[in-house]
Amino acid sequence: MSSHTRIDLRSDTVTRPSAGMRRAMADAEVGDDVYGEDPGAQRLEARTAELLGKEAALFVPSGTMANQLALLLHCRRGDEVIVGEGAHCKEYESGAGAAWAGVQFAEAGKGGVFTAEDLTAAVRPRADWLPRTSLVALENTHNRGGGRVFPQREVLAIAERARALGLPLHLDGARLWNASAATGLSPAALAEPFDTVSVCFSKGLGAPVGSALAGTREHIAQARRFRKMLGGGMRQVGVLCAAASFALESHRERLVEDHAHAKRLAARIAETSGYALDLASVETNIVIFGTARPADDVVRDAASAGVLVSAFGPHRVRAATHLDVSLREVEEAAAVLVRVAG
Ligand SMILES: Cc1ncc(COP(=O)(O)O)c(C=O)c1O
Repeated sequence: MSSHTRIDLRSDTVTRPSAGMRRAMADAEVGDDVYGEDPGAQRLEARTAELLGKEAALFVPSGTMANQLALLLHCRRGDEVIVGEGAHCKEYESGAGAAWAGVQFAEAGKGGVFTAEDLTAAVRPRADWLPRTSLVALENTHNRGGGRVFPQREVLAIAERARALGLPLHLDGARLWNASAATGLSPAALAEPFDTVSVCFSKGLGAPVGSALAGTREHIAQARRFRKMLGGGMRQVGVLCAAASFALESHRERLVEDHAHAKRLAARIAETSGYALDLASVETNIVIFGTARPADDVVRDAASAGVLVSAFGPHRVRAATHLDVSLREVEEAAAVLVRVAG
């Protein structure tokens, strides 16, 4: 590999808008969305709601904002939200849940996915001196869990238990499109048990910016107010929505390629002494593996050879496949990672 070549597997967020996407953005018909006058935003929101089987959806700048809107909708200050281990909204949103909605998080189960029994164990009894459990939030696919798909039968069992306990459900579906591609279940089927769902256009779908929150008309009307309060009211946002719409229609079906690439990369890593990886854990586009050497050293040496991956713990590394890396590049990256395994 030449020293200038850079294969960036740090995240599926590093993609750049394709020529077709840039054309769609340039041609976008726009209006002031705070006045409710941007046709591209309205089309994208309607299409997202339709794909997710919900009444309405709202375009927001980031997955973080979509999750935060859900916390604001469902919780009061001092409440507790039950999440899977290592949930994005607990670990990677700069403490926003505590800062804006005033909530704390309780983890259920291990590895990101959990069961209805884990949920029952995590729910607080009602007492004045305890936080009030007010929401169950699942992540599908689970980022820190290595892109694992939340098994649908478990989702249904959790939803049934949550309903029996009177708890609403939020889905962090930043990579719901990947879960859909991996299982063959429609986004609407995966979203059905949830009151609100956040999805991202800027991850595997390759849009430069943007996410959405979907739910009932009432929830989304309230979320629109909260979005404005958080500074997320955007004006001629159709330019960004055009990229997201293009991504939804053109880049969803190809996600299976990313999954095949991740499996290929994982196979090379799994057979390398110096790395530890359970191949069965690679279900979508994320590969997380253990390293005998310190993860930072592996990341540094791979970067010197033109391959970028992320340290995900002292001895854990994450690589994500996406639409800007070809199978050939994945093979090259695998060769480099094998070489620096130690
Ligand atoms: C599962 C999950 N949820 C939410 C987010 C937040 O998205 P954003 O970076 O757009 O705020 C991410 C980002 O990687 C994510 O992986």
